Amino acid sequence: MCSGESGTWLEGMESKQSVELWSVRRTYRAAAREMRALDGVTTGFEAGTFTAVMGPSGSGKSTLLHCAAGLDRPTEGKVVIDGTDLGTLDETGLTLLRRERVGFVFQAFNLVSALTAEQNVFLPLRLAGKPVAPEEIRTALAEVGLADRGGHRPSRLSGGEQQRVAIARALITRPAVLFADEPTGALDTKTSRHVLRLLRDLVDRRRQTVIMVTHDPVAASYADRVLFLADGRIVDELVGRAGAEEVSARMTSLEARAC
Ligand SMILES: Nc1ncnc2c1ncn2[C@@H]1O[C@H](COP(=O)(O)OP(=O)(O)OP(=O)(O)O)[C@@H](O)[C@H]1O
Ligand SMILES: [Mg+2]
Repeated sequence: MCSGESGTWLEGMESKQSVELWSVRRTYRAAAREMRALDGVTTGFEAGTFTAVMGPSGSGKSTLLHCAAGLDRPTEGKVVIDGTDLGTLDETGLTLLRRERVGFVFQAFNLVSALTAEQNVFLPLRLAGKPVAPEEIRTALAEVGLADRGGHRPSRLSGGEQQRVAIARALITRPAVLFADEPTGALDTKTSRHVLRLLRDLVDRRRQTVIMVTHDPVAASYADRVLFLADGRIVDELVGRAGAEEVSARMTSLEARAC
């Protein structure tokens, strides 16, 4: 397809953006020095797509995710989630948006150790004061392949199982976007693949929007698009499913440029 045809086809598409970042800057002040963790990032994340964010340590990946999810406020610029400009929300509005429209999964799972898997999944609804049928919690756990583990506390679950409980918990409010910061960082290769297949399946089957930070080119190969950050800026992008080798080659050239 020539670029003209492709442009026309794209212009005709009604693509809905789950998240938009407009000239987002996040600076930190340390020892009278200004540090730009994010330095003018503009990008969009289309609904029902899976994006991986890669880049060297300290390049701003977590800062990008936190600003995009409303966990942190940018110093400058605009973040729009599911049509809502976060800059127009006060703290209460932001808390509600985070609770209802956004799911977040961390490398360290962050489950409550005293609660069972079912109670952990129920937690966001409990905090929101929303009633829920026990069946709904069981279905959420079944969807991540843990139908028979609902009564187990985290200490009786493997790392991969704990991360799947965390994913079920993040999705129980049916958020517009699921953010994941190195969700497979603490898992072995086999368990990682299981979690990545689950994320891919959520995008394919439920049209869930997923934005995932990762250091692993194999993990990034599950995404529809890979963004590369360096020094707080988007410096490269792979659009369409890319192989792990291609992702790895881009990372290598990025790191070589930084030297
Ligand atoms: N709360 C903070 N105060 C001061 N500087 C910070 C703070 N949080 C992050 N930074 C700095 O901002 C930059 C980007 O940090 P960030 O955590 O986004 O990087 P990252 O790409 O996620 O790195 P990693 O791969 O190591 O997790 C780093 O230089 C970091 O030291
Ligand atoms: Mg990080």
